[in-house]
Amino acid sequence: MSTQNKTLGEFIINNQQEFKYSSGELSRLINSIRLAGKVVNHEVNKAGLVDILGNAGDTNIQGEDQQKLDVYANDVFIKTLTNREIVCGIASEEEDDFIAIKGGNEKNDNKYVVLIDPLDGSSNIDVNVSVGTIFSIYRRITPSGTPVTLEDFLQPGNQQVAAGYIVYGTSTMIVYSTGHGVNGFTLNPAIGTYYLSHPNMRFPEKGNIYSVNEGNYVHFPQGVKNYIKYCQTEEEDRPYTSRYIGSLVSDFHRNMIKGGIYIYPSTSKDPSGKLRLLYECNPMAFIAEQSGGKASDGFQRILDIKPTELHQRVPFICGSKLMVEKAEEFMKKE
Ligand code: AHG
Ligand code: MN
Ligand code: MN
Repeated sequence: MSTQNKTLGEFIINNQQEFKYSSGELSRLINSIRLAGKVVNHEVNKAGLVDILGNAGDTNIQGEDQQKLDVYANDVFIKTLTNREIVCGIASEEEDDFIAIKGGNEKNDNKYVVLIDPLDGSSNIDVNVSVGTIFSIYRRITPSGTPVTLEDFLQPGNQQVAAGYIVYGTSTMIVYSTGHGVNGFTLNPAIGTYYLSHPNMRFPEKGNIYSVNEGNYVHFPQGVKNYIKYCQTEEEDRPYTSRYIGSLVSDFHRNMIKGGIYIYPSTSKDPSGKLRLLYECNPMAFIAEQSGGKASDGFQRILDIKPTELHQRVPFICGSKLMVEKAEEFMKKE
C-alpha cells in the first residue's frame, strides 16, 4: 500500500508486532489518544467563535458552562482514557495529583500509565495560533492488579514505551514513536481520518533556526547568552534565523522539519526553567532522539534524569544534534 493512502489505523495494526509487549493494549491506547485528539481538534477549531458564543466562564446556548480550552482538553483525554479502561493511571499538567484508574475486572491489570500536557501553548488560543497536546507512555513498575503509585509515574524518560504530540496547526497532525523511529499523520478533517503523511521523520543534523524567548535574555545563564550571540554572529552559515511561537509543540515541530534548536533555559528567576520534565520535555526528547535529534538540560541527557516530582521543571535544549552539542559546549565553558 502506498504511503499516501495509509491511515493511522492501518499503520497501528501493521506495526503492532514492533511493540515491546504486543498484547494489543498499546495499540488500543494510541487509538484512544488519536480519538481524543480529534475531539479536541474540533473544539480548537471553533475557538475563534468564542466571542460570539460566549467566553470561558459564561453559560453557552445549551445552558452548559463554557470551559477554558485547556480544561476542556484535559477532560476529553481523561474521560476517553478512563472510559475505555485502557490505562491504570494518568498524570496531567491540569491535575495536582495522578489519577489511579480501576480496570474493568475486579483487579486492574492494565499495564500502562499516561502523562499528558492536554493543551500546550494555551496562551496562543485567543490569537488563532497553533497549539498542541503532548503525551508520554510508560509500563507500570508496581505489580499489576494493585493501585498505581507515584513511583509508576516517576520513571526516567529512557523508560518511555511510546510518546508523541498532536499539533493543531494549519493542519492537525499526530506525530509519535514507539521506539522505532518517528511517523507523522495528517488529519483529513472532511472524513476524520489521519493519513501517514510524514513517514520516518528525521531531525536534520544541523539547521539555521534558533527558538528562545529572548525577552528573558537578562535572566539567562552566561552560557546561553554566549550561545545566542554565536547564533547571531555573521560567520560560516550564521547568523541563524530566530523563530519563537511560544508553543513548544509547534516550535519543536517546525524545527524537526526544517532543522533548528529550541531553548528554554534556567533563569535567575526560575532556576529550573519553565517546562515540565514528565509531560513536556521527556516526550519531546524521546521524539527528538528517535528522529536523530538531541535533548539536554545543558549538561546531561534529558531522558536520563531521574524524576523526583510529578510537576518537576527542567531547563530544556532540544533539536538538531550538532546545534544542541554546540549549545552544550557553551554551557560547559561557564
Ligand atoms: P502550557 O500552555 O502547556 O502551559 O505550555 C506553555 C509552554 C510551552 O509550550 C512554551 O514553549 C512556553 O511555555 C512558552 O513560555 P514563555 O511564554 O515563557 O516563552
Ligand atoms: Mn505545555
Ligand atoms: Mn498545557
